[in-house]
Amino acid sequence: MSVWRMVVLAGLAAAGLHSSPAEAYGRDGHRIVCELAYSLMTEAARAEVDRLMAADRIYETFPESCSWADIVRGTIIRESAPWHYTNQPRDDRTIDEGDCAEDGCIISAINMHAEQFANRSNDAETRLQGLKFLAHWIGDIHQPLHVSIEGNRGGNDIPVLWRGERHTNLHRVWDSEIILDYMSETWPWVPERERWRYFMEELAADIPLAHSTVYTDVDPIAWAQESHDIVRSRDFAYFWATEENMIEPGDAYYERGLRISRQRLQLAAVRLAGVLNTLTAPAEGGSMTGPALD
Ligand code: ADE
Ligand code: ZN
Ligand code: ZN
Repeated sequence: MSVWRMVVLAGLAAAGLHSSPAEAYGRDGHRIVCELAYSLMTEAARAEVDRLMAADRIYETFPESCSWADIVRGTIIRESAPWHYTNQPRDDRTIDEGDCAEDGCIISAINMHAEQFANRSNDAETRLQGLKFLAHWIGDIHQPLHVSIEGNRGGNDIPVLWRGERHTNLHRVWDSEIILDYMSETWPWVPERERWRYFMEELAADIPLAHSTVYTDVDPIAWAQESHDIVRSRDFAYFWATEENMIEPGDAYYERGLRISRQRLQLAAVRLAGVLNTLTAPAEGGSMTGPALD
């Protein structure tokens, strides 16, 4: 690690600027999505990610950089705070562009940062920032409660007694608790900070068509709709939840939640890889302008 990186990391730590696990897919969720995506990228996409990451002043690796958006939301890029999620009116089950908040939401952020990354007339630092935001947003939009119903901050205000053991909230359950429980129950002998890699490899081994190359359009409305359908479903126990009534999910909720979480992490990774593959594909005819983004 360079001295510069150490100084920056020490500074961030000293200032207490850790991401709160309540705010995004916990760090492990984002690491898993980005490392898994990297394994599904084309040579061209990997080369571009590596080239941009080599200039990053803080992060050594792409999966670590995927939580950067959680650090800057409360510090140097405060206007990015609303871009981690979108909230729907209770009586509107269909996601469309007009549902995005005025200050932006996860849908507009995905479109904006995909363009910022893809646009070859932007300088490398601008494109790197686009990449780090885009990779984080594609993780977040697959966490069902980042596409939630307005009024309870994506379940952050819904109290939960998790599996009879821990006081937490519904948002944290889906950002972190399910993933952390699974990893600690499956790989108790592995040091905590290394468990995410075991989970990532297990998810990678279990992706259908993992050996074909995926190219995916940027389609945040469709991805958001899937998340939103999940949070409105009866078994999710969210639609009727209130701040006053604590939910007490047991092992059946955990088992179902784990199945959903595995699928969402895999889909996020496949889509992130697919989008980066599309945006870095050499244009037909050998021009360097890249595919059109519409
Ligand atoms: N704050 C308000 N709504 C939120 C959501 N859906 N997810 C995370 N934080 C939020
Ligand atoms: Zn986030
Ligand atoms: Zn979150």
